[in-house]
Amino acid sequence: MQSASGYDSDEELEFRETQVPYINPHIPFTGRIVGGLREGHMVTITGRVLSTDENRFEVNFHIGIRDTYNIAFHFSPRFEGSGYVVCNTKQLGNWGLEEMKMQMPFQKGSPFEICFKVDRSAFKVMVNGSIFLFYVHRVPWHEVNAITIKGCVEVSDIYFQI
Ligand code: GAL
Repeated sequence: MQSASGYDSDEELEFRETQVPYINPHIPFTGRIVGGLREGHMVTITGRVLSTDENRFEVNFHIGIRDTYNIAFHFSPRFEGSGYVVCNTKQLGNWGLEEMKMQMPFQKGSPFEICFKVDRSAFKVMVNGSIFLFYVHRVPWHEVNAITIKGCVEVSDIYFQI
């Protein structure tokens, strides 16, 4: 396989050829990220926020597919007050310091696209095409091998790109 810039490395080939998208995943959802995350990878989720009484949803990048004790990046929009988003990391079952963004880029009932781009120093989060926040890595992101989504959303697809 060849990209616009030339031949891809074996690692990129492995990621691209083995990581299929998840289509209409049932929420709560757990899925493997085959080969783990690498610098430059993008994970894009499209869906819609449900108009239910539930006021939160979350996307988690886990270290260990059956392990809820280690979450490299927890992204948790909360429709409480005027709305905000909490980001955090869980290590050996303990949450770290929360990073809060006092803005709500999602709307109940509305469709969304969230793109998580893995940069060398941070997860860059884009919502509906605009940069929303950066979350500086606290743990080795290349050990991330699973994604979970739960809460007041329905998801039409999750796809993975270099
Ligand atoms: C807690 C919440 C967890 C997680 C955590 C992040 O209050 O119960 O689900 O969101 O905050 O810091």
